[in-house]
Amino acid sequence: MDWGMKNRFSKIIRPDTGRTVMLAVDHGYFQGPTTGLEEPRKTVEQLLPYADALMLTRGVLRTSIDPAVSTPIVLRVSGGTSILKELSNEGLTTSIEDAIRLNVSAVTMSIFVGGEYERQTLLNLSKLVNLGERYGIPVLAVTAVGRDMNRDARYLGLACRIAAELGAHFVKTYFCEDFEKVVRGCPVPLVVAGGKKIPEQDALQLTYNAIHAGAVGVDMGRNIFQSEAPVAMIKAVRSIVHENATVDEASILYNLLKAEETKPKVPAQ
Ligand code: 5RP
Repeated sequence: MDWGMKNRFSKIIRPDTGRTVMLAVDHGYFQGPTTGLEEPRKTVEQLLPYADALMLTRGVLRTSIDPAVSTPIVLRVSGGTSILKELSNEGLTTSIEDAIRLNVSAVTMSIFVGGEYERQTLLNLSKLVNLGERYGIPVLAVTAVGRDMNRDARYLGLACRIAAELGAHFVKTYFCEDFEKVVRGCPVPLVVAGGKKIPEQDALQLTYNAIHAGAVGVDMGRNIFQSEAPVAMIKAVRSIVHENATVDEASILYNLLKAEETKPKVPAQ
């Protein structure tokens, strides 16, 4: 990695802890106005101070995020599909020049290993890595999982390793049983997605398990912004990722902060 690439990377993965809490709000690029993200500006504003990086598309970045923010941006540059059709048929949607103009810290796209358009998405990744290398911009590969695919260590290990072999600088994947095997087989840092909304305690457990199996952090969306108390939730996740809190400690913190966040506001007299 050259200096520029390392510099960008160090904005995403905190050098003091070697870990990261990324906030993913890119869901609309294929599923439209996702619950909790109907008005991205409102959702993101309250969470931004607690996110080490923000993952989103250029459309939401331009329309909904204050250009004065200091949070590093991980820009999704793949798409072209919707939940109504074959998801793996993605292309690269955003030029590297636009990513540079937007001053992003990394670019990201999905690969669909085993999907109908597997080859196309893997070649997209290779092309993006070539562009990232040219301009010093790290590439985050997302191992998307098709409807019929098993999220087990064998499959995720395969997808993560392929992403790393093609040159991805870090990889986002799902947590699974025997996640250590996925980590061991992947020579670049891994962050985990949260997946569909689950109870807060379970999402905290997932975070803890992933970190203790070797992930460098999370790139979490729905389990934060769909939580009853999103700010409390991201703070609780941070306590595990950056402060080595246990699940019980993080749950206590979540419940304390939730009580505060959900307290009815008394109108000023
Ligand atoms: C879609 C993505 C999403 O950003 C990802 O799924 C993360 O969000 P969540 O924690 O809600 O799963 O990359 O491919």
